[in-house]
Amino acid sequence: MNASRFFIFLFSAGFFVVACTTEPEAPPFEPEILSLPADPSDYAPLPTYVAMDIPEDNPITAEKAALGWQLFFDLRISGDGSRSCYSCHVCELGLADGKPTAVGAFDKALTRNSPTLWNIGYHPEFYWDGRAKSLEAQALAAWKGGNMGANNPGEIVAKLNSIEGYRDQFQKVFNEGATPENVSKALAAYMRTIVSHDTPWDGWQAGDESAVSDAAKRGYEVFKKAECNNCHDGVLFTDFQYHNVGIGMDAEEPDLGRYKVTQDEKDKGAFKTPTLRDVAQSAPYFHDGSTATLEEVVDIMVGGGKENPQLDRANLKKVTLSAAEKEDLLEFLRSLDQPCALSEPPLPSLQGSE
Ligand code: HEC
Ligand code: HEC
Repeated sequence: MNASRFFIFLFSAGFFVVACTTEPEAPPFEPEILSLPADPSDYAPLPTYVAMDIPEDNPITAEKAALGWQLFFDLRISGDGSRSCYSCHVCELGLADGKPTAVGAFDKALTRNSPTLWNIGYHPEFYWDGRAKSLEAQALAAWKGGNMGANNPGEIVAKLNSIEGYRDQFQKVFNEGATPENVSKALAAYMRTIVSHDTPWDGWQAGDESAVSDAAKRGYEVFKKAECNNCHDGVLFTDFQYHNVGIGMDAEEPDLGRYKVTQDEKDKGAFKTPTLRDVAQSAPYFHDGSTATLEEVVDIMVGGGKENPQLDRANLKKVTLSAAEKEDLLEFLRSLDQPCALSEPPLPSLQGSE
């Protein structure tokens, strides 16, 4: 049985070609917003689905997503021309960057690990601490802040407006030239199309017994037995909540995570539960990139996290697993590998002068 049978295509746009005669034609871009079953047990006929909340003032169209796609890959929107969004959210690296902590434009050292962007459109809040309330706000912040270093967005949108290929697209999509607001809207629209739904595990859940190994099947049982799904819940493998599992709390000045947003004592050292989709590709791990391998991460989590006053003992339990069970658990995590098809679009050029 084919996994895709159980996905409802809320949005499936037609053929799209960048509307500019002098530019190379962009390949067809068909953004798909898929609804995922809300619960693994719902990979059955008549499933219920996780709905993606798309803001009313920023509906997705093929043209808008295609524009966001180009902006996401364009180095020219960073402050020093050195970074694109894609620089730190790379296919082969699980849509992260392979570094413990990210290095932004102007070689600015950032304090946190680049998270994956798989299924980011389903998140209600953004960043490890949830400080951004919408994907549009997040995109604007990532662009103007340390990641992309666009200290002067006015200058950058003026540059975009001087590029015919971009100017035409902004006119068509937003009825105006590029502005910081519509750049972030286009980026957000594109990011909502970055959906993981066809890992081997999804194939198995949808009924294809041959999609994963027996070890991975046993590993999924171990995952539930160890109650990993108290937090890495459902088909998105996250509850979108903030938990303290103790990472980095022994640092001289620990990153207090969610506490910075809420000022609530219990949120000290709490971070958003990361999805586990494609996790085998996105090393190193945790908000501070402090753990190099998936094996070590599993040891920490199975061991009940790291001791500190705010440790979420209610959800994270120390469990005893045999070496074979741990191997199976790792095999299950590898069955969440997501084939990545984010490709680089042809970018509009500044004719003759760049
Ligand atoms: C220099 C590397 C770097 C670049 C460039 C970069 N990011 Fe990120 N991104 C990060 C890091 C690090 C975080 C986590 C920051 C935090 O939680 O405080 C992040 C977080 C995010 C998140 C939130 C993920 C979540 O789980 O909540 C999104 C969405 C995102 N970036 C999109 C973008 C977009 C769009 C751009 C381009 C405008 C971009 N990123 C450019 C490193 C980067
Ligand atoms: C209390 C909720 C909770 C439970 C239970 C839990 N996790 Fe996590 N997990 C988290 C949080 C929160 C993080 C991020 C912590 C950080 O970066 O500081 C995390 C991080 C991870 C990561 C690293 C992901 C990345 O992208 O960096 C993996 C892998 C992981 N957990 C696997 C597991 C496994 C396997 C289990 C069961 C043995 C488990 N977790 C149980 C909340 C939980």
